[in-house]
Amino acid sequence: MALFYFLLPVQRCPAIEFLPIRSFVMADLIPPPLPDLFMSIAGKTILITGSSSGIGAQAALQLARAGATLLLVARREDELRQVQRDIATVGGRAFIYPCDLTNAAELDACVTRLLDEHPRIDVLVNNAARSIRRPILEALDRLHDYERTMQINFVAAVNLTLKLIPRFLEQGSGQVVNISTMSTQVPIPLFSAYLASKSALESFSRSLAVELGDRGIAVTTVYFPMVRTEMSGKTAIYKNMRMMNAEQAAGWIVEAVDKRPARVSSPVGALGSVLLSALPGPVIELTRPFFRRMDQKLASKLKKG
Ligand SMILES: NC(=O)c1ccc[n+]([C@@H]2O[C@H](COP(=O)([O-])OP(=O)(O)OC[C@H]3O[C@@H](n4cnc5c(N)ncnc54)[C@H](OP(=O)(O)O)[C@@H]3O)[C@@H](O)[C@H]2O)c1
Repeated sequence: MALFYFLLPVQRCPAIEFLPIRSFVMADLIPPPLPDLFMSIAGKTILITGSSSGIGAQAALQLARAGATLLLVARREDELRQVQRDIATVGGRAFIYPCDLTNAAELDACVTRLLDEHPRIDVLVNNAARSIRRPILEALDRLHDYERTMQINFVAAVNLTLKLIPRFLEQGSGQVVNISTMSTQVPIPLFSAYLASKSALESFSRSLAVELGDRGIAVTTVYFPMVRTEMSGKTAIYKNMRMMNAEQAAGWIVEAVDKRPARVSSPVGALGSVLLSALPGPVIELTRPFFRRMDQKLASKLKKG
């Protein structure tokens, strides 16, 4: 994680544009020139879940600025209305669909309305999620932690995707952007329920790409590092940790829709996933003390104020 932030200024350096390395290492992190962005996004209808706050709300705003029509889904209607107003202020267009995606009947009714009211939906961004930070030893009698995270982070995302696939096939094109986390690319402790649900979503994304990629359906997985939002704000010791802000993170979703890559990731996350698949035992043994020390340091910083 520290290495990611160390590399951040290098990743953003304009000179990188001219290096061959950009194309395969840094490409995902550097915003494309504005005119291309408008051409690839303008006119698209984009459904984004979890758009009442945080990264989802910011991504909706940025995509609307680039000329897309946004379909906003989350539970909190007032917050969705505010995002809709913000989008109108920048001259964009958005429709809101308040819905608890963990309620199958509500999700069904919401998708029926979306499909009835919009003859074309180009992109589904599965961004709505919940995170739980708890050691496995404190979750021995809390199977519901695993059920609740799976319900929103995996089942709801898969349910929405399955319901939109017929429309994408009918249109001859469509894109599913699934939001995951850099923490599945490196062996992070204390988030077993959250990370298991995100890993399940990543695996589903791969199957979808393999089975339907040649029928016009693009699939992108976005691996965010830590981002300052309501979600990360729930963990007190993260108060003093350096993080991306929601606007920067939203840029990664814009990048996903603009370029339609298989993955949007930090170079450190990409390297982490290679090392973890090649040498899982040694990587876990070597990084365990680092993550323990990091948590201890953050806890003592918090105590000092
Ligand atoms: N923040 C980070 O450090 C971080 C790091 C890596 C990945 N991510 C991922 O980035 C994405 C956005 O997270 P965020 O940080 O922006 O968090 P956030 O501000 O807490 O946003 C989560 C969104 O999900 C919606 N949501 C939650 N449960 C829902 C439900 N049952 N039905 C419908 N919508 C629901 C929430 O809206 P309502 O409450 O209005 O329903 C909210 O809009 C998530 O997929 C998260 O896993 C975040």
